[in-house]
Amino acid sequence: MTLLIGDVVPDFDADTTQGPINFYKEIDGHWAILFSHPADFTPVCTTELGYTAKLQPDFQKRDIKVFALSVDPLEKHENWSQDIKDVTGFSVNFPMIADTDRRIANLYGMIHPNASDTSTVRSVFVIGPDKKVKMKLEYPASAGRNFDEILRVIDSLQLTAKHRVSTPVNWKAGEDVIIVPAVSDDEAKKKYPEGWRAEKPYLRYVPAPRE
Ligand code: BEZ
Repeated sequence: MTLLIGDVVPDFDADTTQGPINFYKEIDGHWAILFSHPADFTPVCTTELGYTAKLQPDFQKRDIKVFALSVDPLEKHENWSQDIKDVTGFSVNFPMIADTDRRIANLYGMIHPNASDTSTVRSVFVIGPDKKVKMKLEYPASAGRNFDEILRVIDSLQLTAKHRVSTPVNWKAGEDVIIVPAVSDDEAKKKYPEGWRAEKPYLRYVPAPRE
């Protein structure tokens, strides 16, 4: 199955390091990240899971629930967690899903047979409170992901979910944003009485709206 931006994600029940879950119940009304890694006790994955644990306060601040997944069993996840703490200094503080029968990985298209028939690639799904895919990315086993970038995109997604703006190249939270082309100049004058900086008639910058 190929899940695309805007699709409602499939529901599932799963065993995790924090007990059994129903995914829809867990994420209901919240933002969520579901990310897969190829295998436990592997080097790149160890660094990724540790860094994600380090970012947990940043995810919580944004009301984002984080779920990791691989096809390894629960016991292996639990044993590996100690290594992640030893190496990175951070304890995995989010549920790690044990998808031993690859049911969830197949539902979410996390197995790419030309990469591996048996393990997941490095997929990330950012899911909105409406349970729709807001962003997805897929990396091969050899390349660790940039979780700071995932956080950056979420800042953009959460802002643009509330305001009729978009964010330019390499934008970071707090920087100027772009008024979307669908907002006419007349409409923009009402919303931004202080005006905007137009580099082209269709490229109008304003300070990022506060909440
Ligand atoms: C890693 O995490 O380093 C890794 C996992 C699976 C295949 C290759 C690398």
